[in-house]
Amino acid sequence: MRLNPFAGAYLTDPAGVWARLLAGDGGVHHDEELGLWLISRHADVRRALADARSFGNALTLAPVYDVCPEALALVAQIDAPPTTAAADPPVHPRTRRALRVTFANTPERVEQRYGRIVRRRVDELVSRLAARGGEEVDLVTAFTAELPLLVLLDILGVPAGDVPRIRAWADGQIALIWGRPDPAEQVRLAGGLLEFWRYCQDLVRRRLDGGGDDYVGELLAYRHGDDEVLTVAEVSSIVFNLLVAGHETTAGLLAHALERALAEPDRWRSFAERPERVPAFLAETLRFAPAIDGWLRVTNRPVTLGGVTIPAGARCLLLIGAANRDPAAFRHPDRFDPERPDAHDHLSFGHGPHFCIGAALARLEAGTALTRLAAALPGLRLAPGHHRAFRPNLAFRAHRALPVTVAATVPSGHRPEG
Ligand code: HEM
Repeated sequence: MRLNPFAGAYLTDPAGVWARLLAGDGGVHHDEELGLWLISRHADVRRALADARSFGNALTLAPVYDVCPEALALVAQIDAPPTTAAADPPVHPRTRRALRVTFANTPERVEQRYGRIVRRRVDELVSRLAARGGEEVDLVTAFTAELPLLVLLDILGVPAGDVPRIRAWADGQIALIWGRPDPAEQVRLAGGLLEFWRYCQDLVRRRLDGGGDDYVGELLAYRHGDDEVLTVAEVSSIVFNLLVAGHETTAGLLAHALERALAEPDRWRSFAERPERVPAFLAETLRFAPAIDGWLRVTNRPVTLGGVTIPAGARCLLLIGAANRDPAAFRHPDRFDPERPDAHDHLSFGHGPHFCIGAALARLEAGTALTRLAAALPGLRLAPGHHRAFRPNLAFRAHRALPVTVAATVPSGHRPEG
Protein backbone atom coordinates (compact mmCIF):
# COMPACT_ATOMS: atom_id res chain seq x y z
CA MET A 1 0.00 0.00 0.00
CA ARG A 2 1.27 3.50 -0.82
CA LEU A 3 1.37 6.51 1.44
CA ASN A 4 1.89 9.05 -1.36
CA PRO A 5 2.97 11.70 1.16
CA PHE A 6 4.13 14.40 -1.25
CA ALA A 7 0.88 14.92 -3.15
CA GLY A 8 -2.90 14.86 -2.94
CA ALA A 9 -4.96 14.44 0.21
CA TYR A 10 -1.95 13.84 2.43
CA LEU A 11 -1.01 17.51 2.05
CA THR A 12 -4.35 18.85 3.22
CA ASP A 13 -5.98 16.20 5.43
CA PRO A 14 -4.04 12.98 6.01
CA ALA A 15 -6.68 11.33 8.24
CA GLY A 16 -8.30 9.41 5.35
CA VAL A 17 -4.94 7.91 4.40
CA TRP A 18 -4.27 6.93 8.02
CA ALA A 19 -7.71 5.28 8.30
CA ARG A 20 -6.98 3.16 5.21
CA LEU A 21 -3.60 2.08 6.58
CA LEU A 22 -5.06 1.26 10.01
CA ALA A 23 -7.80 -0.89 8.49
CA GLY A 24 -5.71 -3.12 6.23
CA ASP A 25 -3.20 -5.97 6.76
CA GLY A 26 -2.65 -5.64 10.50
CA GLY A 27 -1.85 -1.96 10.03
CA VAL A 28 1.64 -2.83 8.72
CA HIS A 29 2.47 -2.19 5.05
CA HIS A 30 5.50 -2.02 2.84
CA ASP A 31 5.59 1.07 0.64
CA GLU A 32 7.69 0.02 -2.36
CA GLU A 33 8.03 3.52 -3.71
CA LEU A 34 9.32 5.01 -0.45
CA GLY A 35 11.27 1.88 0.47
CA LEU A 36 9.76 2.12 3.96
CA TRP A 37 7.65 -0.09 6.18
CA LEU A 38 4.60 1.81 7.41
CA ILE A 39 3.49 1.02 10.96
CA SER A 40 0.16 2.57 11.90
CA ARG A 41 -1.51 0.96 14.91
CA HIS A 42 -1.20 2.58 18.33
CA ALA A 43 0.04 -0.55 20.12
CA ASP A 44 2.67 -1.21 17.42
CA VAL A 45 3.94 2.38 17.14
CA ARG A 46 4.15 2.55 20.94
CA ARG A 47 6.07 -0.71 21.06
CA ALA A 48 8.49 0.36 18.32
CA LEU A 49 9.16 3.68 20.06
CA ALA A 50 9.89 1.90 23.32
CA ASP A 51 11.84 -1.13 22.06
CA ALA A 52 15.32 0.27 21.39
CA ARG A 53 16.80 -3.23 20.98
CA SER A 54 14.61 -4.10 18.01
CA PHE A 55 14.11 -0.59 16.58
CA GLY A 56 17.24 1.56 16.34
CA ASN A 57 17.57 5.33 15.88
CA ALA A 58 20.80 5.24 13.84
CA LEU A 59 19.07 6.28 10.57
CA THR A 60 16.44 8.56 12.08
CA LEU A 61 18.17 11.66 10.70
CA ALA A 62 19.33 10.12 7.38
CA PRO A 63 17.52 11.20 4.17
CA VAL A 64 14.65 8.95 3.13
CA TYR A 65 15.68 8.82 -0.55
CA ASP A 66 18.91 8.40 -2.52
CA VAL A 67 20.69 11.73 -2.27
CA CYS A 68 22.62 12.83 -5.40
CA PRO A 69 26.44 12.40 -5.22
CA GLU A 70 27.20 16.16 -4.99
CA ALA A 71 24.86 16.60 -2.02
CA LEU A 72 26.13 13.38 -0.45
CA ALA A 73 29.71 14.69 -0.59
CA LEU A 74 28.62 17.74 1.41
CA VAL A 75 26.61 15.69 3.92
CA ALA A 76 29.63 13.40 4.42
CA GLN A 77 31.60 16.40 5.76
CA ILE A 78 29.13 16.81 8.65
CA ASP A 79 30.98 14.89 11.31
CA ALA A 80 28.42 15.48 14.09
CA PRO A 81 28.51 12.47 16.41
CA PRO A 82 25.11 10.88 17.09
CA THR A 83 23.50 12.23 20.27
CA THR A 84 19.89 12.02 21.50
CA ALA A 85 17.52 11.52 18.54
CA ALA A 86 20.06 9.73 16.31
CA ALA A 87 21.83 7.75 19.06
CA ASP A 88 21.42 4.17 20.22
CA PRO A 89 22.81 2.47 23.35
CA PRO A 90 25.42 2.75 24.76
CA VAL A 91 25.77 6.37 23.56
CA HIS A 92 22.13 7.37 24.00
CA PRO A 93 21.75 6.71 27.75
CA ARG A 94 24.86 8.86 28.33
CA THR A 95 23.81 11.81 26.13
CA ARG A 96 20.23 11.52 27.39
CA ARG A 97 21.53 11.82 30.98
CA ALA A 98 23.29 15.05 29.96
CA LEU A 99 20.01 16.40 28.56
CA ARG A 100 17.98 15.33 31.59
CA VAL A 101 20.36 17.07 33.97
CA THR A 102 20.80 20.28 31.98
CA PHE A 103 17.50 20.88 30.15
CA ALA A 104 14.44 21.62 32.30
CA ASN A 105 11.86 18.97 31.44
CA THR A 106 9.18 19.01 34.15
CA PRO A 107 6.42 21.66 34.39
CA GLU A 108 7.88 23.03 37.64
CA ARG A 109 11.48 23.27 36.39
CA VAL A 110 10.38 24.68 33.03
CA GLU A 111 8.30 27.36 34.72
CA GLN A 112 11.13 28.24 37.06
CA ARG A 113 13.90 28.29 34.42
CA TYR A 114 12.16 29.41 31.25
CA GLY A 115 8.78 30.88 32.31
CA ARG A 116 9.95 34.48 32.24
CA ILE A 117 11.60 34.11 28.82
CA VAL A 118 8.44 32.56 27.38
CA ARG A 119 6.12 35.27 28.73
CA ARG A 120 8.40 38.07 27.57
CA ARG A 121 8.65 36.69 24.02
CA VAL A 122 4.89 35.93 23.85
CA ASP A 123 4.02 39.45 24.98
CA GLU A 124 6.41 41.01 22.47
CA LEU A 125 4.85 39.11 19.59
CA VAL A 126 1.29 39.68 20.82
CA SER A 127 1.93 43.44 21.03
CA ARG A 128 3.38 43.43 17.52
CA LEU A 129 0.30 41.62 16.22
CA ALA A 130 -2.04 43.94 18.11
CA ALA A 131 -0.37 46.89 16.43
CA ARG A 132 -1.48 45.50 13.07
CA GLY A 133 -5.19 45.94 13.77
CA GLY A 134 -7.35 45.85 10.66
CA GLU A 135 -4.74 43.94 8.63
CA GLU A 136 -4.58 40.41 7.25
CA VAL A 137 -1.52 38.71 8.73
CA ASP A 138 0.12 35.31 8.25
CA LEU A 139 0.33 33.85 11.77
CA VAL A 140 3.00 31.36 10.69
CA THR A 141 5.53 34.10 9.87
CA ALA A 142 4.29 36.59 12.48
CA PHE A 143 3.87 34.24 15.41
CA THR A 144 3.97 30.44 15.29
CA ALA A 145 7.36 30.04 13.60
CA GLU A 146 8.81 33.02 15.44
CA LEU A 147 7.98 32.37 19.11
CA PRO A 148 9.62 28.96 19.67
CA LEU A 149 12.81 29.97 17.88
CA LEU A 150 13.17 33.21 19.89
CA VAL A 151 12.55 31.31 23.14
CA LEU A 152 15.05 28.63 22.23
CA LEU A 153 17.76 31.13 21.26
CA ASP A 154 17.28 32.95 24.58
CA ILE A 155 17.64 29.64 26.43
CA LEU A 156 20.73 28.60 24.49
CA GLY A 157 22.34 32.04 24.62
CA VAL A 158 22.31 32.60 20.84
CA PRO A 159 21.82 36.17 19.52
CA ALA A 160 18.29 36.84 18.21
CA GLY A 161 19.95 38.42 15.14
CA ASP A 162 20.76 34.87 14.01
CA VAL A 163 17.05 33.95 13.70
CA PRO A 164 16.84 34.25 9.87
CA ARG A 165 19.80 32.02 9.08
CA ILE A 166 18.99 29.43 11.77
CA ARG A 167 15.42 29.25 10.48
CA ALA A 168 16.64 28.81 6.90
CA TRP A 169 19.09 26.05 7.91
CA ALA A 170 16.54 24.25 10.10
CA ASP A 171 13.81 24.40 7.42
CA GLY A 172 16.42 23.18 4.95
CA GLN A 173 17.39 20.22 7.13
CA ILE A 174 13.76 19.13 7.41
CA ALA A 175 13.27 19.39 3.66
CA LEU A 176 16.56 17.59 2.93
CA ILE A 177 15.91 14.61 5.22
CA TRP A 178 12.15 14.06 5.08
CA GLY A 179 11.15 15.94 1.92
CA ARG A 180 11.65 15.24 -1.77
CA PRO A 181 13.95 18.01 -3.10
CA ASP A 182 15.34 17.78 -6.64
CA PRO A 183 19.13 17.31 -7.00
CA ALA A 184 19.96 21.03 -7.36
CA GLU A 185 17.93 21.75 -4.24
CA GLN A 186 19.61 18.84 -2.41
CA VAL A 187 23.01 20.41 -3.06
CA ARG A 188 21.83 23.82 -1.82
CA LEU A 189 20.25 22.35 1.32
CA ALA A 190 23.20 20.06 2.07
CA GLY A 191 25.55 23.08 1.79
CA GLY A 192 23.33 24.93 4.26
CA LEU A 193 23.35 21.99 6.65
CA LEU A 194 27.15 21.86 6.61
CA GLU A 195 27.26 25.61 7.37
CA PHE A 196 24.76 25.05 10.19
CA TRP A 197 26.97 22.36 11.74
CA ARG A 198 30.05 24.61 11.49
CA TYR A 199 28.02 27.40 13.13
CA CYS A 200 27.12 25.13 16.09
CA GLN A 201 30.75 24.06 16.44
CA ASP A 202 31.87 27.72 16.52
CA LEU A 203 29.17 28.62 19.02
CA VAL A 204 30.44 25.96 21.41
CA ARG A 205 34.13 26.60 20.73
CA ARG A 206 33.70 30.27 21.69
CA ARG A 207 32.40 29.22 25.13
CA LEU A 208 35.16 26.75 25.90
CA ASP A 209 37.08 29.10 28.15
CA GLY A 210 34.12 29.32 30.52
CA GLY A 211 31.50 31.90 31.34
CA GLY A 212 27.85 32.28 30.41
CA ASP A 213 24.92 31.07 32.45
CA ASP A 214 22.97 29.99 29.38
CA TYR A 215 22.32 26.43 28.24
CA VAL A 216 25.51 26.02 26.19
CA GLY A 217 27.55 27.16 29.21
CA GLU A 218 25.64 24.71 31.37
CA LEU A 219 26.28 21.76 29.04
CA LEU A 220 29.98 22.57 29.01
CA ALA A 221 30.00 22.84 32.81
CA TYR A 222 28.20 19.47 33.04
CA ARG A 223 30.95 17.94 30.91
CA HIS A 224 33.56 19.25 33.34
CA GLY A 225 36.34 18.67 30.79
CA ASP A 226 35.71 14.92 30.80
CA ASP A 227 35.24 13.25 27.38
CA GLU A 228 33.86 10.15 29.09
CA VAL A 229 30.95 12.29 30.25
CA LEU A 230 30.46 14.20 26.99
CA THR A 231 32.90 15.28 24.27
CA VAL A 232 33.01 18.84 22.94
CA ALA A 233 31.80 17.50 19.58
CA GLU A 234 28.83 15.92 21.39
CA VAL A 235 28.00 19.26 23.01
CA SER A 236 27.98 20.85 19.53
CA SER A 237 25.86 17.98 18.24
CA ILE A 238 23.29 18.41 21.03
CA VAL A 239 23.06 22.12 20.19
CA PHE A 240 22.74 21.21 16.47
CA ASN A 241 19.83 18.88 17.34
CA LEU A 242 18.12 21.25 19.75
CA LEU A 243 18.20 24.11 17.27
CA VAL A 244 15.87 22.09 15.04
CA ALA A 245 13.96 19.83 17.46
CA GLY A 246 13.25 22.70 19.82
CA HIS A 247 11.35 25.02 17.54
CA GLU A 248 10.07 23.45 14.29
CA THR A 249 7.94 21.12 16.43
CA THR A 250 6.45 23.71 18.77
CA ALA A 251 5.81 25.96 15.77
CA GLY A 252 3.69 23.11 14.37
CA LEU A 253 1.76 22.65 17.61
CA LEU A 254 1.03 26.38 17.77
CA ALA A 255 -0.24 26.48 14.19
CA HIS A 256 -2.45 23.41 14.63
CA ALA A 257 -3.84 24.74 17.93
CA LEU A 258 -4.48 28.25 16.62
CA GLU A 259 -6.11 27.05 13.43
CA ARG A 260 -8.56 24.91 15.39
CA ALA A 261 -9.22 27.45 18.14
CA LEU A 262 -9.77 30.33 15.74
CA ALA A 263 -12.25 28.30 13.73
CA GLU A 264 -14.60 28.42 16.75
CA PRO A 265 -14.93 32.00 18.04
CA ASP A 266 -16.68 30.91 21.27
CA ARG A 267 -13.85 28.59 22.13
CA TRP A 268 -11.31 31.29 21.29
CA ARG A 269 -12.95 33.83 23.59
CA SER A 270 -13.28 31.24 26.37
CA PHE A 271 -9.49 30.82 26.60
CA ALA A 272 -9.11 34.32 28.02
CA GLU A 273 -11.90 33.83 30.56
CA ARG A 274 -11.11 30.21 31.45
CA PRO A 275 -7.41 29.55 30.85
CA GLU A 276 -7.72 26.31 32.84
CA ARG A 277 -9.38 24.84 29.72
CA VAL A 278 -6.28 25.32 27.60
CA PRO A 279 -4.17 22.30 28.72
CA ALA A 280 -6.90 19.79 27.77
CA PHE A 281 -7.39 21.58 24.46
CA LEU A 282 -3.66 21.32 23.76
CA ALA A 283 -3.53 17.63 24.68
CA GLU A 284 -6.34 16.91 22.23
CA THR A 285 -4.63 19.06 19.57
CA LEU A 286 -1.46 17.00 20.05
CA ARG A 287 -3.46 13.79 19.61
CA PHE A 288 -5.55 14.97 16.69
CA ALA A 289 -2.93 16.87 14.69
CA PRO A 290 0.62 16.04 15.80
CA ALA A 291 3.42 18.34 14.65
CA ILE A 292 5.49 15.24 13.89
CA ASP A 293 3.19 12.58 12.48
CA GLY A 294 5.76 10.11 11.15
CA TRP A 295 9.12 9.18 12.69
CA LEU A 296 11.83 6.80 11.52
CA ARG A 297 13.37 3.72 13.03
CA VAL A 298 15.46 0.91 11.56
CA THR A 299 15.00 -2.71 12.61
CA ASN A 300 18.03 -4.31 14.29
CA ARG A 301 16.52 -7.80 13.89
CA PRO A 302 13.39 -9.32 12.29
CA VAL A 303 10.26 -8.11 14.06
CA THR A 304 6.70 -9.40 13.76
CA LEU A 305 3.90 -6.85 14.16
CA GLY A 306 0.24 -7.30 13.25
CA GLY A 307 1.09 -10.74 11.85
CA VAL A 308 3.60 -9.25 9.40
CA THR A 309 7.35 -9.95 9.71
CA ILE A 310 9.61 -7.00 8.97
CA PRO A 311 13.18 -8.10 8.13
CA ALA A 312 16.29 -6.84 9.93
CA GLY A 313 17.83 -3.65 8.53
CA ALA A 314 14.49 -2.27 7.30
CA ARG A 315 13.60 1.40 7.62
CA CYS A 316 10.22 1.89 9.26
CA LEU A 317 8.00 4.95 9.35
CA LEU A 318 6.13 5.01 12.66
CA LEU A 319 2.92 6.80 11.78
CA ILE A 320 2.28 8.70 15.01
CA GLY A 321 -0.61 10.55 13.37
CA ALA A 322 -2.34 7.27 12.46
CA ALA A 323 -1.66 5.75 15.90
CA ASN A 324 -3.36 8.75 17.50
CA ARG A 325 -6.47 8.01 15.41
CA ASP A 326 -6.52 4.27 16.05
CA PRO A 327 -10.07 3.25 17.06
CA ALA A 328 -8.54 0.46 19.18
CA ALA A 329 -6.97 3.15 21.37
CA PHE A 330 -9.42 6.08 21.23
CA ARG A 331 -13.23 6.13 21.03
CA HIS A 332 -14.48 8.08 18.00
CA PRO A 333 -10.88 8.95 17.10
CA ASP A 334 -11.83 11.36 14.31
CA ARG A 335 -13.84 13.53 16.67
CA PHE A 336 -11.92 16.48 18.15
CA ASP A 337 -12.94 16.37 21.79
CA PRO A 338 -10.88 18.17 24.45
CA GLU A 339 -13.08 16.49 27.09
CA ARG A 340 -11.91 12.99 26.21
CA PRO A 341 -10.32 11.45 29.31
CA ASP A 342 -7.49 9.64 27.51
CA ALA A 343 -6.16 12.32 25.13
CA HIS A 344 -2.80 12.13 26.96
CA ASP A 345 -2.31 8.61 25.58
CA HIS A 346 -1.27 10.21 22.28
CA LEU A 347 2.23 9.40 21.02
CA SER A 348 3.04 12.88 19.71
CA PHE A 349 6.01 13.36 22.03
CA GLY A 350 7.18 9.79 21.41
CA HIS A 351 7.33 7.14 24.11
CA GLY A 352 10.03 5.33 26.05
CA PRO A 353 13.77 6.07 26.06
CA HIS A 354 13.67 8.90 23.48
CA PHE A 355 10.54 10.61 24.90
CA CYS A 356 10.68 14.29 24.00
CA ILE A 357 12.86 16.26 26.40
CA GLY A 358 11.09 19.50 25.41
CA ALA A 359 7.48 18.39 26.00
CA ALA A 360 7.02 20.53 29.12
CA LEU A 361 8.56 23.57 27.42
CA ALA A 362 6.34 23.10 24.36
CA ARG A 363 3.24 22.91 26.58
CA LEU A 364 4.26 26.04 28.47
CA GLU A 365 4.90 27.98 25.27
CA ALA A 366 1.66 26.93 23.63
CA GLY A 367 -0.44 27.45 26.78
CA THR A 368 1.01 30.92 27.37
CA ALA A 369 0.62 31.87 23.72
CA LEU A 370 -3.01 30.81 23.51
CA THR A 371 -4.17 32.46 26.73
CA ARG A 372 -2.33 35.74 26.14
CA LEU A 373 -3.26 35.98 22.46
CA ALA A 374 -6.91 35.25 23.22
CA ALA A 375 -6.92 37.88 25.99
CA ALA A 376 -5.30 40.54 23.81
CA LEU A 377 -7.06 39.72 20.53
CA PRO A 378 -10.50 38.20 21.19
CA GLY A 379 -11.53 39.29 17.68
CA LEU A 380 -8.73 37.40 15.90
CA ARG A 381 -10.27 35.27 13.10
CA LEU A 382 -9.09 32.99 10.31
CA ALA A 383 -9.06 34.95 7.07
CA PRO A 384 -12.09 34.25 4.89
CA GLY A 385 -11.39 31.57 2.31
CA HIS A 386 -8.41 30.07 4.21
CA HIS A 387 -7.54 26.63 2.82
CA ARG A 388 -5.19 24.48 4.86
CA ALA A 389 -2.04 23.25 3.08
CA PHE A 390 0.98 21.55 4.61
CA ARG A 391 4.57 21.49 3.40
CA PRO A 392 5.38 18.19 1.65
CA ASN A 393 7.23 16.19 4.30
CA LEU A 394 7.25 12.68 5.76
CA ALA A 395 7.77 13.71 9.38
CA PHE A 396 6.94 17.35 10.11
CA ARG A 397 3.40 18.52 9.46
CA ALA A 398 3.87 22.25 9.05
CA HIS A 399 1.32 24.73 7.74
CA ARG A 400 2.46 26.70 4.72
CA ALA A 401 0.55 29.71 6.05
CA LEU A 402 -2.19 30.65 8.51
CA PRO A 403 -3.80 33.88 7.33
CA VAL A 404 -5.89 35.71 9.95
CA THR A 405 -7.54 39.07 10.30
CA VAL A 406 -6.56 41.14 13.31
CA ALA A 407 -9.46 43.10 14.80
CA ALA A 408 -8.93 46.86 14.62
CA THR A 409 -9.14 47.57 18.37
CA VAL A 410 -7.30 46.09 21.32
CA PRO A 411 -8.91 45.79 24.76
CA SER A 412 -7.17 47.93 27.35
CA GLY A 413 -6.85 44.98 29.81
CA HIS A 414 -3.76 43.59 28.03
CA ARG A 415 -0.55 44.58 29.77
CA PRO A 416 2.66 43.24 28.25
CA GLU A 417 5.04 41.90 30.92
CA GLY A 418 8.51 43.39 31.17
C1 HEM B 1 5.07 20.21 20.14
C2 HEM B 1 6.37 20.19 20.25
C3 HEM B 1 7.21 18.95 20.11
C4 HEM B 1 6.92 17.74 19.53
C5 HEM B 1 5.63 17.32 18.84
C6 HEM B 1 8.08 16.90 19.70
C7 HEM B 1 8.17 15.59 19.29
C8 HEM B 1 9.19 14.74 19.62
C9 HEM B 1 9.21 13.32 19.36
C10 HEM B 1 8.12 12.54 18.64
C11 HEM B 1 10.36 12.82 19.85
C12 HEM B 1 10.76 11.35 19.91
C13 HEM B 1 11.89 11.01 18.96
C14 HEM B 1 12.22 9.52 19.00
O1 HEM B 1 11.53 8.70 19.62
O2 HEM B 1 13.19 9.17 18.34
C15 HEM B 1 11.11 13.93 20.40
C16 HEM B 1 12.37 13.84 20.94
C17 HEM B 1 13.11 14.94 21.26
N1 HEM B 1 12.67 16.24 21.38
FE1 HEM B 1 10.84 16.92 20.97
N2 HEM B 1 9.06 17.63 20.32
C18 HEM B 1 8.56 18.88 20.61
C19 HEM B 1 9.21 19.92 21.25
C20 HEM B 1 10.52 19.89 21.62
C21 HEM B 1 11.24 20.97 22.24
C22 HEM B 1 10.62 22.32 22.62
C23 HEM B 1 12.52 20.53 22.44
C24 HEM B 1 13.69 21.24 23.05
C25 HEM B 1 13.81 22.51 23.23
C26 HEM B 1 12.59 19.17 21.95
C27 HEM B 1 13.73 18.39 21.95
C28 HEM B 1 13.73 17.03 21.72
C29 HEM B 1 14.93 16.21 21.83
C30 HEM B 1 16.34 16.68 22.17
C31 HEM B 1 14.53 14.89 21.54
C32 HEM B 1 15.41 13.64 21.50
C33 HEM B 1 15.37 12.96 22.83
C34 HEM B 1 16.13 11.67 22.83
O3 HEM B 1 16.41 11.11 21.76
O4 HEM B 1 16.43 11.19 23.92
N3 HEM B 1 11.37 18.81 21.47
N4 HEM B 1 10.36 15.09 20.27
